[in-house]
Amino acid sequence: MNQREKEEYLREYAILKAQGKPFFPYIIVKDGVMMIVVIGTIMLMSLTLGGELTAKADATTTTYAPRPEWYYFWAFELLKVIKPPELVGLATVGIPTIAMILLFLLPFYDRNPERHPLRRPLATTAGIFVISAMALLSYLGAEAGAPSQVNIDPPASIAAASHEDQVRWEAGRRLTAQSGCGGCHKIGPNGNDGPGPPLTEIGDRLKEGAIRETMINPTLPMPSFRELGPEALDEMAFFLSTLKSSGAAEGGH
Ligand code: HEC
Repeated sequence: MNQREKEEYLREYAILKAQGKPFFPYIIVKDGVMMIVVIGTIMLMSLTLGGELTAKADATTTTYAPRPEWYYFWAFELLKVIKPPELVGLATVGIPTIAMILLFLLPFYDRNPERHPLRRPLATTAGIFVISAMALLSYLGAEAGAPSQVNIDPPASIAAASHEDQVRWEAGRRLTAQSGCGGCHKIGPNGNDGPGPPLTEIGDRLKEGAIRETMINPTLPMPSFRELGPEALDEMAFFLSTLKSSGAAEGGH
């Protein structure tokens, strides 16, 4: 900003200030009314629509698959993009901290007097990039199937199988979703990519009996699921054994 621009700005500022209203009480009242409207709307909505409550917290569970609120999906996805364990600190603490410091120091390093976005190509590009990246990451986070669900359709062999097998398959699918396998395994579109191998085509590699045995006597860090009981383990092993690359399953028990 050169001397002439500065004087022009100060003159304009003095004129506007003379025309304006004092901050107190005018702006305070405006802000106050708006705050009451917003808080009142939220209170009214929670009273009439209610808030969605999820299952009660269970401090003893070892297979809880955490999911953030939607407005944190971008940070959640960032963790998936930045995979190596050594870099997790960078993704969770480093990048947000650097962004906060940059924002805090903005008035010191951005001395550009221009205000029109088109005359500020660097700032505009950086802004568009950050907003687009957050939007894309939020979308990916929202799209990624929750690890507490298994969204897989029955393979052709199950669709053609007896009603009893279809019921068992469905029970196995539901139990697998609820048992927290998705915390460590990718199953179709759901679950986390590791530390366990993907189970999407586990039927190609292991037979039903071997899958059942893995759940009872697993290799660490996978916990044993023995306490689920023989019936649940049978149904889950049956379900998992039908997950094959060809989509063709044995079925017919
Ligand atoms: C705490 C993480 C974790 C959880 C939870 C978990 N697993 Fe695993 N699972 C693993 C790991 C790690 C391995 C690989 C172990 C090894 O090195 O052999 C594995 C291996 C397996 C295998 C063998 C895969 C293969 O390709 O040989 C099967 C089958 C399996 N898990 C099924 C399940 C099922 C079903 C559940 C839920 C009831 C489950 N797992 C829950 C971590 C987990």
